[in-house]
Amino acid sequence: MTAAPDEQPPASHLRLVSVPEQGGRGRKFRRVGEEGESHASIGSEEVRPAGGEVPIGPEEFRQALAAHAAGVVVVTARPGGEPVGLTATSFTSVSLAPPLVSFYVDQASTTWPALSKAEYFAVNVLASHQVELAARFARKGVDRFAAPTRWSPGLADVPLLEEVASHLVCRAHHTSEVGDHILVVGLVVATAGGDGRPLLYHQGRFGDFQPR
Ligand SMILES: Cc1cc2nc3c(=O)[nH]c(=O)nc-3n(C[C@H](O)[C@H](O)[C@H](O)COP(=O)(O)O)c2cc1C
Repeated sequence: MTAAPDEQPPASHLRLVSVPEQGGRGRKFRRVGEEGESHASIGSEEVRPAGGEVPIGPEEFRQALAAHAAGVVVVTARPGGEPVGLTATSFTSVSLAPPLVSFYVDQASTTWPALSKAEYFAVNVLASHQVELAARFARKGVDRFAAPTRWSPGLADVPLLEEVASHLVCRAHHTSEVGDHILVVGLVVATAGGDGRPLLYHQGRFGDFQPR
């Protein structure tokens, strides 16, 4: 993204740490950086447990996160004419006015160097039947935009995937390093769709939403 990195991500993106409850066996969650804590994971700054905290193991962390169901998007862009894109569940809305959305990309992503050069990108919110498309845009060593993927260029030449639940075309607004990921914030400049059924990801599996 061409926007200059800012100093701090919004507070809602600070990490959670689990802290043993006083005198008990349970654990509660606290936001790192809350109440004067000085070890928030911002940029490449080192994260050290404060007194009383027990560092969380990766498996424990993954297990807790797996309980969170998320919508699935494919972020696409076309910097210099070549389409690029990747599957993400870290997409979220940030602000209504101005209309801002965000996602996080792994610093190890091989898509990021090209994506980071794009002035505009599209968030393609996948529909419930697009499991194969989600898997394809997470797979290495394939041409993600070749058939059977169907797409067409949209506003600012961003690749718009077909049959998705909705599109949001964004202008790059902000990026910053947060831990081992990069926070990308986009200003939404155009949208389409919005009434399709979404594809969800939960406990390592794809599924769809059953309204009550
Ligand atoms: C359901 C699902 C959700 C994902 N969410 C993210 C995400 O939010 N951020 C991210 O960087 N990678 C995410 N990934 C992984 C990327 O899609 C994948 O690692 C990436 O496309 C690998 O290719 P790359 O190195 O070309 O970027 C997700 C993968 C799947 C299957």
